[in-house]
Amino acid sequence: MTETSPPTAADLLARARRVLPGITQTYSKAPDQHVEGVYPVFLVRGDGCRVWDVDDREYIDYPCALGPVILGYHDPDVDAAVHGAVDAGPCWSLGHPLEVEVAELIVDMVPGAEMVRLLKTGSEATSAAVRLARAFTGRDHVAMCGYHGWHEWAVGHTARNAGIPAPVRGLTHQWAYNDLASLERVFDEHPGRVGVVIMEPVGVVEPRPGFLESVRDLAHRRGALLVFDEVITGFRLARGGAQEHFGVVPDLAAFGKALANGYAVAAVAGRADVMAQIATTTFVSSTFGGETVSLAAAAATLRKLQREPVVAHLWRQGAAVRDAFNRIAASHEVPARMVGLAPRRVLEIDADAGVDANALKGLIWQGCLDRGVLLSNANFVSYAHDDYAVARTVEAFEHALGEAARAYHCGDVAGALRGAVPGEVFRRA
Ligand SMILES: Cc1ncc(COP(=O)(O)O)c(C=O)c1O
Repeated sequence: MTETSPPTAADLLARARRVLPGITQTYSKAPDQHVEGVYPVFLVRGDGCRVWDVDDREYIDYPCALGPVILGYHDPDVDAAVHGAVDAGPCWSLGHPLEVEVAELIVDMVPGAEMVRLLKTGSEATSAAVRLARAFTGRDHVAMCGYHGWHEWAVGHTARNAGIPAPVRGLTHQWAYNDLASLERVFDEHPGRVGVVIMEPVGVVEPRPGFLESVRDLAHRRGALLVFDEVITGFRLARGGAQEHFGVVPDLAAFGKALANGYAVAAVAGRADVMAQIATTTFVSSTFGGETVSLAAAAATLRKLQREPVVAHLWRQGAAVRDAFNRIAASHEVPARMVGLAPRRVLEIDADAGVDANALKGLIWQGCLDRGVLLSNANFVSYAHDDYAVARTVEAFEHALGEAARAYHCGDVAGALRGAVPGEVFRRA
């Protein structure tokens, strides 16, 4: 019998190019979003805060699967719950007790959650929230601020809007974070027609004092419901999400990502009178919404969040990483900063630095990768990012920012990149 060796990254990439448009199922994970030619493309294993690529190289992982991995890979409590659910069977002809249990945990933890619909993806959860708010208010127009997923109402305004009918595009209007007047303009331009204000409660810029309260009051005054897209902030900023952290409770909220430590569970949750429409006048339904392997993971994740100081850990380690990066960048006079609240940070290049921002970002990522640290556009931390991992990360920053400084001060950032300059998902072709 001949033994076949596992495929190399290069083999897999060639095969993927033939059968997978864009290579990965999430644009942000694609090779052209990183330093193509240098970055790994396929990861196959994780443990704690570490991941391994197909060629068995090990990295400390900061994208955390773009946010879902909040406890760490292979968390023992989640693994035990998942194994139990696998043994029992994953999907059922009727309801399952785990649906009740996970909904109750969300209601216990999230201030504005009175009822819950369980789904699979963040896009489904935000879309369900938009449908519920439209149904409740009897108004079709949506005022949005941020990224809310791939569904038609959410991407009509972007460069990738082919396939979305013009009348649908016309129902969604953008407004700017921390700019109440821009939201007021949307209401003024479409009087009596805006039923939904949807926003990420915080992205990388913090809300001005009173801003979130003003948005809620304006939405209500003008007859709309407020939806917080907590797909990223949920269970990370506080156990009850950004609404607990900032003390502003929306009518509805969408959750996903960290809800089940990497298993596919999302939820829309909020006011009982709005949510109840699911059982009467509107329709939100999913074959896999009650799939129990993921729900077992969700229950184990939420219980661990209740029991252990996970959120405090995310704030502490995220701040340690962010502050070390900013200190080292400043000492090397590299015009780069990690911005955002500690649990979720983004690497930004100063706009007036006179450099190709994506090239400099890529060069810093490349230097970190050389020292076994995987960064991406969105950087998180998990409960498994211990002090040793943070110390190794700080060493990687010293190396990467030293290299970046040499290239930047010689004016040859692109020349120092060993691969392609990272791209942007919504850049116009
Ligand atoms: C704020 C926000 N909302 C919604 C989504 C969509 O979630 P999903 O990719 O699970 O559909 C994302 C995904 O990145 C997100 O960051």
